[in-house]
Amino acid sequence: MKSFSYANPTRILFGAGQIAAIAKHIPESARVLLTYGGGSIKANGVYDQVIAALGKRQVVEFGGIEPNPSYETMMQAAAVARAHKSDFILAVGGGSVVDGSKFLAVALKHDGPEAWDLVTGKAKVKGAVPLGAILTLPATGSESNSGAVITNKTLGAKLALMHPSMYPVFAVLDPETTRSLPPRQIANGVADAFVHVIEQYLTQPADGMVQDAYAEALLRTLVALGPKTLANPDDMDARANLMWAANQALNGLISVGVPQDWATHMIGHELTALYGVDHARSLTIVLPALLRVRRAAKRAKLLQYAERVWDIREGSEDARIEAAIARTEAFFTELGLPIRLAQAEIAPDAAEKVCANLVAHGMTALGEDQGVTPDVAARILSLAA
Ligand code: NZQ
Ligand code: ZN
Repeated sequence: MKSFSYANPTRILFGAGQIAAIAKHIPESARVLLTYGGGSIKANGVYDQVIAALGKRQVVEFGGIEPNPSYETMMQAAAVARAHKSDFILAVGGGSVVDGSKFLAVALKHDGPEAWDLVTGKAKVKGAVPLGAILTLPATGSESNSGAVITNKTLGAKLALMHPSMYPVFAVLDPETTRSLPPRQIANGVADAFVHVIEQYLTQPADGMVQDAYAEALLRTLVALGPKTLANPDDMDARANLMWAANQALNGLISVGVPQDWATHMIGHELTALYGVDHARSLTIVLPALLRVRRAAKRAKLLQYAERVWDIREGSEDARIEAAIARTEAFFTELGLPIRLAQAEIAPDAAEKVCANLVAHGMTALGEDQGVTPDVAARILSLAA
């Protein structure tokens, strides 16, 4: 295990009724910018709870943050925040609202002409307006990590930005808020969280015993909970466990001191930027093909994954690895998610377009060993056709 420094400053407020607790964590004098998406929070009662909890604080709203939040939309939010001198951002929604708001938080402290430069790395993050998150969709882990993924519609680019100042001050995880989720979003969330764990676990052995065992516990939990939550929408224990599992999958804990991959995500982000496919669905298409193409580099961990996550102990090593990848595909299929480009109506020439964009974005050596070159990415996408 490599040396590491670990701190996660986000306070988690977990459980039914916890929205009311935000009053203790937002200054009375705060000028709050309340950010949200397309309106689900107004239909399901979350908005009313938030307004009640904010009490007498000054509140200005910015709604309309779209799935895969855009730079263009968040610049409109920045204009509203500046006009009202907002000094606290309260993001209420799924990963897109939280990500867009985290980017807004750093964009408001940026003094150059283009806040997009923060995303490309051309400009340095200089701090952030404090932000709290009320999560309504278990999936991304964005509510207590330091990342945000932003789409520049003009450039057709979907890129990730990470900075410690983007950790939310607090994150409310109230499973009751997830009752109104359509099955598609539950399935997406389970798959996204599953792939987050895989990206930090299925690499090369690094003697991270705690990280491996926790990753395996999360994977097994997600495999059990996904179909259970879809089949029993009123099972609140399943929803609560799902919300906690998705949070733990990407709060930075299981990646400490061990290699990380993220090639599936980077290729998936290009697919979403080009074709608009849901984030999780881009991942379920790319991951199985990636595991097959990268079988040699990941061999030891694939065998461990087969045994400890899927209980596969019989057969040759190659047969066990193939069985584990097939079980992964069957799990995604059971959730109703695509595992091939064609199932998402994406033409086979995607390989060429995605690779051109990976090169344009400087992503020419992805993966835990930098082994995913554009040629390897092209092989992965051809296999996923
Ligand atoms: O916009 P509203 O009306 O709220 O509806 C949303 C949206 O249409 C709806 N929804 C959310 N909560 C709901 C609900 N509908 C009914 N009831 C509720 N309780 O669900 C739809 C999808 O929401 P979205 O926020 O886009 O989904 P998700 O949470 O999956 O976020 C996806 C975004 O996060 C990024 C992805 O790339 C994508 O842009 N990611 C962020 C990460 C991070 N910051 O760490 C890591 C991830 O890998 C991922 O890349
Ligand atoms: Zn993801």
